[in-house]
Amino acid sequence: MAGEDSAGREKAIKIGDRIEMKKQYLISPGPTPVPEEALLEMAKAIMHHRTPQFSSIFAECSAGLQELYKTSQPVLMLASSGTGAMEASIVNLFSPGETVLVVNAGKFGERWGKISETFGLKVEWLNVPWGQAVSPSAVAEALNRNPKIAAVLVQGSETSTTVAHPIMELAKLTHDKDTLIIVDGITSVGVVDMPMDGWGIDVLLTGSQKALMLPPGLAFIALSEKAWKKSKTVKQPKFYFDLARELKNQKEKTTAYTPAVSLICGLRKILEMLFAEGLENTYKRHDILARSVRAGTAALGLAPLAPDSPANSATGVFVPKGVDGGKLVKDLRDNYGVTFAGGQDDLKGKIIRIAHLGYFDTFDMITAISSIEMALAKHGHPVRMGEGVAAAQAVLNARYI
Ligand SMILES: Cc1ncc(COP(=O)(O)O)c(C=O)c1O
Repeated sequence: MAGEDSAGREKAIKIGDRIEMKKQYLISPGPTPVPEEALLEMAKAIMHHRTPQFSSIFAECSAGLQELYKTSQPVLMLASSGTGAMEASIVNLFSPGETVLVVNAGKFGERWGKISETFGLKVEWLNVPWGQAVSPSAVAEALNRNPKIAAVLVQGSETSTTVAHPIMELAKLTHDKDTLIIVDGITSVGVVDMPMDGWGIDVLLTGSQKALMLPPGLAFIALSEKAWKKSKTVKQPKFYFDLARELKNQKEKTTAYTPAVSLICGLRKILEMLFAEGLENTYKRHDILARSVRAGTAALGLAPLAPDSPANSATGVFVPKGVDGGKLVKDLRDNYGVTFAGGQDDLKGKIIRIAHLGYFDTFDMITAISSIEMALAKHGHPVRMGEGVAAAQAVLNARYI
């Protein structure tokens, strides 16, 4: 169709009776932008996966992932979205009838519960108001009240509410018990330091389309020794996500089934880029970008969704009263060319989520804040143009001084 590229992304904007070229900015918490270096890597001719060439790339990725996770355990690569790794943790670690404690602080916490119930587990829901982090004392109380709880299931960052949960503190609660702590790190691995072995996390999983700056389609999962031991006792049907079978294959630098070859080639490039930046610097970059967005939105008078425990992956803010958040996000995407995420369920139409995980830098944040200023003005909210941008700039300029 005229004005669209082959993927159906609009490349033109109608302004009055003119058509103008439009540049697209993807500032959503996943999929996130993919650097050109990785795109070029993935554009190379496909190779066969049972070859020494691919095994060597696979082995490099395995070693790099261990470094990222800070674990001596193998980090398995699965051809699935992140939810596949969530399901893999459940089917490999629990028999029907076992009880798990689900930290339900948003859409993805809820997903832990739904997957668990699908496979016959008993779910103890620890409901946390949206926008708040779980308190370690609430988890400790639940564990004391019910010694049958086999695991705590939680997100490192609950993307639907842009909250960070206190994983280090939570991991301390299960350390000396048989209870496992299973962390969905889909929007926290590569954003903040989450040393799996150092903190005593039993399962850490993530996906490719977030801080790992790749297209969707790969999931990563590592199990602690304690978790591998428990997995041997589990009676639960599984086939594709049988992690013991994957472990056996991946130790031999291959996968049980056809891997996502091109994505894994891209992953090697991404890991190379991350280690060239240095993980500590990656985490610092995420921190300063997150702080700039918090400052920019605060200057515009937008109330934060997660004031007490904001994640470094994305920032959710309430749109002002009288502005329809759904229409604002749609207008930003369709007319300004800037894609953000809106809210889900009760938050639908009420919030906008600005991402800062993955391939983002200073001027992506400036684009984010300035486009929101412009769209808010258009949607009838009084803004003094440049106020949000100035506040963000004041934070970001510290990178260069
Ligand atoms: C924290 C979290 N968990 C789980 C998921 C689901 O991952 P996927 O869509 O890759 O299956 C997402 C996706 O946004 C997420 O942010």
